[in-house]
Amino acid sequence: MTDAERHDEKIEVVFSSETIAARIESLASEIAAAGIERLLIVSILTGSFIFAADLLRGLHRAGLDVEVDFLALSSYREGTTSSGKIAILRDVEVPLAGRNILLVDDILDTGRTLAFAKDLIGARGARSVATCVLLDKRIARTVEIEADFVAFECPPVFVIGYGMDMGHRYRELPFVGKIVA
Ligand code: IMP
Ligand code: MG
Repeated sequence: MTDAERHDEKIEVVFSSETIAARIESLASEIAAAGIERLLIVSILTGSFIFAADLLRGLHRAGLDVEVDFLALSSYREGTTSSGKIAILRDVEVPLAGRNILLVDDILDTGRTLAFAKDLIGARGARSVATCVLLDKRIARTVEIEADFVAFECPPVFVIGYGMDMGHRYRELPFVGKIVA
């Protein structure tokens, strides 16, 4: 039985774990080449926890020493659509003033979550705020924001796996997939 067959719904692989792993190495090199000093990674929970964990180790292999902290945001999604309201569920612990931050999220969809996080961190006196997402779903954007580093352009479908959920399920899948009818 394959990973994709273990659930009730039929799941199709969009980005395989091998494809993701290879892209993380090149993405880490791109980030290292940007030459940002004393980088503090801020991983937006919950969706980015697996991507951030893999990216951090990629950055280590690319020769960077980084720090990491977590910001848990809730965008109150109803099913698969965004409500627009964002709340801080857990704040960062590391003081942000004067720091160079790399915000890491799973997917840039409407853009509201990343824009909210970027404003919040900027308001705390960060020296610089760069953004990095695993997936960019450009077609869904309602807020004008672009990520500085993007692993993959995402097709216009609801994706799951590799940290991303649908109703709290599927985060554990080692690949990015979509549910097919
Ligand atoms: P935005 O605020 O609309 O850009 O949405 C960003 C957040 O919504 C992401 O951090 C994800 O947690 C979630 N999200 C958006 N699109 C998807 C999707 O296709 N699958 C799973 N989660 C998604
Ligand atoms: Mg998220």
